[in-house]
Amino acid sequence: MTHRLKLGIAGLGTVGVGVWKLLNENRERIFANAGCELEITAVCARNADIDRGIDLKGVRWVDNAVELASSDDIDIFVELIGGEEGIAREAVETALAHGKHVVTANKALLAHHGNELAAIAEKHNVALNYEAAVAGAIPIVKSLREGLAGNNVSSVVGILNGTCNYILTKMASEGREFADVLSDAQKMGYAEADPTFDIGGHDTAHKLAILTCLAFGSRIDFNSIYLEGIEAITQADLKAVHELGYCIKLLGVAIRTDSGIEQRVHPSLVPLTSPLAAIDGAFNAVAVEGNYSGKIILQGAGAGQKPTASAVIADIIDIARVNALYPLGREVAKLAPYQRARMRAHEGGYYVGLAVHDRPGAVAAIAKRFGEQEISLESIIQRGTDTQSGEDAEGGGQQSVVLIIHETAEAALREALASIEADGHIADRPRMIRIEKTI
Ligand SMILES: NC(=O)c1ccc[n+]([C@@H]2O[C@H](COP(=O)([O-])OP(=O)(O)OC[C@H]3O[C@@H](n4cnc5c(N)ncnc54)[C@H](OP(=O)(O)O)[C@@H]3O)[C@@H](O)[C@H]2O)c1
Repeated sequence: MTHRLKLGIAGLGTVGVGVWKLLNENRERIFANAGCELEITAVCARNADIDRGIDLKGVRWVDNAVELASSDDIDIFVELIGGEEGIAREAVETALAHGKHVVTANKALLAHHGNELAAIAEKHNVALNYEAAVAGAIPIVKSLREGLAGNNVSSVVGILNGTCNYILTKMASEGREFADVLSDAQKMGYAEADPTFDIGGHDTAHKLAILTCLAFGSRIDFNSIYLEGIEAITQADLKAVHELGYCIKLLGVAIRTDSGIEQRVHPSLVPLTSPLAAIDGAFNAVAVEGNYSGKIILQGAGAGQKPTASAVIADIIDIARVNALYPLGREVAKLAPYQRARMRAHEGGYYVGLAVHDRPGAVAAIAKRFGEQEISLESIIQRGTDTQSGEDAEGGGQQSVVLIIHETAEAALREALASIEADGHIADRPRMIRIEKTI
């Protein structure tokens, strides 16, 4: 072992402290695999006075992350602050421009600025590694960038947000409503005080944007992602889909189609027989299909101190092995422009939930609207009074009607649902969930 690589860590929160601990705990194995010694020479966080349960003696404390990023006493800048703008972005740009390798867990930063950051890394011939940014301990970035590099990938489908998966799993297993489970998840620390980012699907979308680039060799294009969160999922939906042989998962899906790449994040019906249906609680999973590899599914802990630190350390070891690759898998100049497939052109099966006024002819009128769009129904479940909505405003009863619809164009389904709403036979907006059969 001849050389020593010096690390500067910015951010000593959950992940930063985890990286510190792992580096100390598995020191021998890490040094052996890296082929050199790794030394944390300087660190930075907001508050120098917090007891973080680690011994920072002998390590230089730097107040400003940007200053740390350009310090002479570091070779690798490890960004574990977070946030798409502000100090994290400025510090990463500074580090790359000063010829430092960068390791980050920051998916928001990469989803919004990954193309530009990768170009700076290329220009200065340094690594930009971000395994921890997607699905925690699961080595999906490495798998796409290296292990599957020879394949034409047709789809990437992932459960990428542990909070959403935890909430949906609990709702299904305990029969509780969304708001109730969310409030528990917040008390237990699984969900943030402001959970919008997770439950609205934004966090999943950040990760999907990165995976799409690696899978299809196209520029990262976060703004083209079709996005729906899990807030509208009800107990009635979960029960109905279960009877029909499905569960509901928040999926990030990227699929190559004839018209471009579909990038979408929304609740999806997953057949109970699919391996993704078995991913419960805060776990993550990613399924990739390559034309030679076939289908590959990786699953594991998608967040948390230890799993995330595991991915950060693997990235550092890669750099030590002089394994600096193109950050986005190929030269930025050779990334294709992202070509977006229109969501209305999406074709698939659907679950539709309707609260129908209990009147003669209402269900027949609804069926007629589907027929007009040449939409055929796979199954229909009709129940008496909808326990969700009870009596309607007119004092009459409601029926809960749940339909599973055969493969159809989304545009046709939206037309049919718009006509059904306009006809006035339903008490609420229709609930529509796409069925994911690619996995
Ligand atoms: N937590 C996970 O399970 C997980 C999983 C995957 C990826 N990530 C990503 O990892 C990154 C870090 O997440 P985390 O959970 O470790 O966050 P965290 O616990 O909130 O830690 C953030 C750290 O950044 C420091 N910081 C904040 N503003 C700063 C500033 N202006 N200058 C210098 N330091 C600053 C904080 O300092 P103080 O401690 O002094 O306040 C803290 O040490 C994020 O990008 C996150 O998305 C996290």
